[in-house]
Amino acid sequence: MNFEQIFKNNEKWIAEKTQQNPSFFQDLSKGQKPEILYIGCSDSRVTAEDLMGAQPGELFIHRNIANMVVSIDLNVMSVINYAVTHLKVQHVVVCGHYECGGVKASLQPLDMGILNPWLRNIRDVYRTHQKELDAIANEQKKFDRLVELNVEEQCINVIKTAAVQKAYKERGLTVQGWVFDMRTGKLIDLKIDFPQTLSHIMKIYNLE
Ligand code: CO
Repeated sequence: MNFEQIFKNNEKWIAEKTQQNPSFFQDLSKGQKPEILYIGCSDSRVTAEDLMGAQPGELFIHRNIANMVVSIDLNVMSVINYAVTHLKVQHVVVCGHYECGGVKASLQPLDMGILNPWLRNIRDVYRTHQKELDAIANEQKKFDRLVELNVEEQCINVIKTAAVQKAYKERGLTVQGWVFDMRTGKLIDLKIDFPQTLSHIMKIYNLE
């Protein structure tokens, strides 16, 4: 993909959008009211809008290595706070994906330098679910399961924030955990029971 092509693609995209709706960009510039905050992996193969068929203005997006929600990461915490408190999104989605390089790296005894503290958070997910994961003999299945458990744990980290707890009480905001299977293209809903997860952790993490 060269830069010349990128700018040509952009012209084509503008033409397509304005052909469907001549005021598309004027409408877009008036403001945003996305219903979903999407937290996903930075992986180039996981194209959030494309795989969901979402249009500009529909998703508020945060991406980082292995779709992590770390409480001392000012970046992701600012995104959650802004999306939930100010944009008033109705759903927060954490979307992981199979074959995630970040999750894979956390399974290997490797010094990754500056990435060590980031990957440590995924290793902590492993430790939290060590019994279940160690019982899986097949390495690929273990890797896939850690991807799923990491999504669950990041959903729990979303639920631990005061803004999300408040929005749940006030307007029934939900948290969803999904996995993108790039081997088939399928988006899988892990069907995390939001009210049940919330009731389990509230004893410790209640901020309201
Ligand atoms: Co990834």
